[in-house]
Amino acid sequence: MVEAVLLVGGKGSRLRPLTVTTPKPMLPVAGVPCTEHQIARAREAGVTRVVLGTSYKAEVFSEYFGDGSRFGVELVYAPEDVPLGTGGAIRHVAEHLQSGPDDPVLVLNGDILSGHDIAGQLKQWYADGADVSLYLTRVEDPRAYGLVPTAPDGRVLEFLEKPESLEQCTTDQINAGCYVFRRSIIDEIPAGRPVSVERETFPELLARGARLTGFVDPGYWLDLGTPLAFVKGSSDLVLGHAPSPALPGRVGEALVVPGAEVAWDAHLSGGTFVGAGATVGSGAIVVGSALFDGAVIAAGAVVRGSVIGRGAIIGSGAVLDGVVVGDRAVVGPGNELTRGARVWPGVALGDTAVRFSSDR
Ligand code: GTP
Repeated sequence: MVEAVLLVGGKGSRLRPLTVTTPKPMLPVAGVPCTEHQIARAREAGVTRVVLGTSYKAEVFSEYFGDGSRFGVELVYAPEDVPLGTGGAIRHVAEHLQSGPDDPVLVLNGDILSGHDIAGQLKQWYADGADVSLYLTRVEDPRAYGLVPTAPDGRVLEFLEKPESLEQCTTDQINAGCYVFRRSIIDEIPAGRPVSVERETFPELLARGARLTGFVDPGYWLDLGTPLAFVKGSSDLVLGHAPSPALPGRVGEALVVPGAEVAWDAHLSGGTFVGAGATVGSGAIVVGSALFDGAVIAAGAVVRGSVIGRGAIIGSGAVLDGVVVGDRAVVGPGNELTRGARVWPGVALGDTAVRFSSDR
């Protein structure tokens, strides 16, 4: 038996307003919560039992996943009264784990979409006799991430959080948010207070000579933390660039689930997802976007790289590019919203043309 812990308690503030009603890991990425994609991939790698470390909107997870039997795993919940941070959450789930002190426990950040070889990471953890194995990915500009340089034998040399300049970047390997812990290491994390695994636990383990190793994998990796990343993740799943056994259909330029209606002369491309009960009107163009359940794109609207929330309405001839529209919001006919605009749930924008430019 291999157990996995999914950290799903974050507030997802960068993804507001989508996360006002739904916790980030439960937002549908190509129609399926990120957590479900992760459970499916973990199961494929031999995981049979999953503990969800919840905090923000914990009930949304249990309502959807229940005891996990529908998803082929045993699922248990470890809700936090107050958010304990990444390390505190890992410690908090310990009482729900059944693994022995020297068994491996897979730990995943709940907002990571990855195609990395989870079974390979577990195998390498055994081979290395590691205390913790960290999945590392290479990125062009590592400044926004936690850098993890390793020696030729895979040993972690140091942890460098978000260096300011490129000169300070001693490696392009970053912490990709998936670990294999020796169970006894989890029990040693201080209990009952917030702890950051990245800033506190890992540097301390390194300082006291624990064996931390890097598992560098070139497979698909994306942190779904920002709106632009979220919409890219959805499109990449639909296009087949990001592998997931939980994708609700075939890969291609667009995935339209049963019950959605798309006019014959509408044009969908770039990995667009159209959710249940959503409609796309005549002549509309939708490129690389995610239309949640019940969203309406009226005739002649153009939507690129955007997320359209549940039941939101985009009026005829409106043009949206890189925009997040909250659940049940309305963008009136002819409006133009450019990169970075966020329309709050339930808000109705009238006929006035609106332009925003800031993005993050
Ligand atoms: P932002 O507010 O946009 O930064 O997102 P976030 O709150 O999800 O934080 P971040 O992306 O840094 O979190 C990384 C992962 O750890 C995510 O999967 C979070 O759900 C999870 N996480 C962060 N803080 C906590 C916490 O206090 N408790 C639990 N259980 N999980 C957490």
